[in-house]
Amino acid sequence: MTFVKRAGDQWTRQEMERAWPLDKAPDGKEPLMRIRDLNKSFGPRHILRGIDIDIFRGETLVIIGGSGSGKTTLIRHIMGMLKSDAGAVMVGDLNLNLATQEQLATYRRRLGVVFQNAALLNSLTVLENVGLPLVEVDHLPAQEVRTRVVTALKQVFLPAEEILALKPASLSGGMRKRVGIARAIIQKPEIILYDEPTTGLDPVTVNGVNELTVALQKSLGVTSIVITHDMHAAFDIADRIAMLYKGRMIAVGSQAQIREYDHPVLQQMLTGSTKGPLTEGFAP
Ligand SMILES: Nc1ncnc2c1ncn2[C@@H]1O[C@H](COP(=O)(O)OP(=O)(O)O)[C@@H](O)[C@H]1O
Ligand SMILES: [Mg+2]
Repeated sequence: MTFVKRAGDQWTRQEMERAWPLDKAPDGKEPLMRIRDLNKSFGPRHILRGIDIDIFRGETLVIIGGSGSGKTTLIRHIMGMLKSDAGAVMVGDLNLNLATQEQLATYRRRLGVVFQNAALLNSLTVLENVGLPLVEVDHLPAQEVRTRVVTALKQVFLPAEEILALKPASLSGGMRKRVGIARAIIQKPEIILYDEPTTGLDPVTVNGVNELTVALQKSLGVTSIVITHDMHAAFDIADRIAMLYKGRMIAVGSQAQIREYDHPVLQQMLTGSTKGPLTEGFAP
């Protein structure tokens, strides 16, 4: 497929909604995850219209898209929580649509998930919140849980000993977010999924969380999939950026490729302009 360069107003609708071709694995290796022709409707609304993308081991892939574009829906398919109508998420040989409950449970052990709101339980202490998977899933003894929780809190640059016994309500928003990330990494995941991890945080805390994402990717060697509508975050942390629009990945590439690509929808997303195809019919 060839992509022509031209002024924004010369793109047809059909060209703007066309899917980007699949990238080749950088080192010729098998991708960790292959998403193929993924389709999902809710009632009459066709939200994912054929998502094709490979995710490579060790990379940070940032997926951008307007609100309501289907980012969380895509993440829920990657978690194996939603089944697609057509197409599939393949992890190695495992098709998540066809996986047994047992296979899904094993697969989910490999994932850490950071939700938009930190999703901590208010009645539990930091120790209990972060240690929850180790107690409930792994049935580890209390002393080992404590040691692992302290390590995870230090990995997210929190003063572990000072906050272990505190409840989430007595922490700042940024600290709660870090506690949520500590819980996501406590089972030593191979893949971390972040769904809008910085939404609602102040700019300094946003930068802190972005730096943490990069630090964890380096120190743990994880594969990270980060969903955001924050363009600064995308360019701070991404190895590759993918843009979701009208149910398809319309652009996938390195930071330089994404900056250069003159796709009107992508450029509107990058500049945050109120004029363009994203806001057609809505702009003042
Ligand atoms: N379980 C569901 N049932 C019905 N509609 C849904 C459901 N989940 C998401 N949607 C709809 O799908 C669209 C995409 O939602 P979502 O994936 O949450 O978008 P994003 O995360 O990009 O903001 C939205 O219009 C939303 O209302
Ligand atoms: Mg969402």
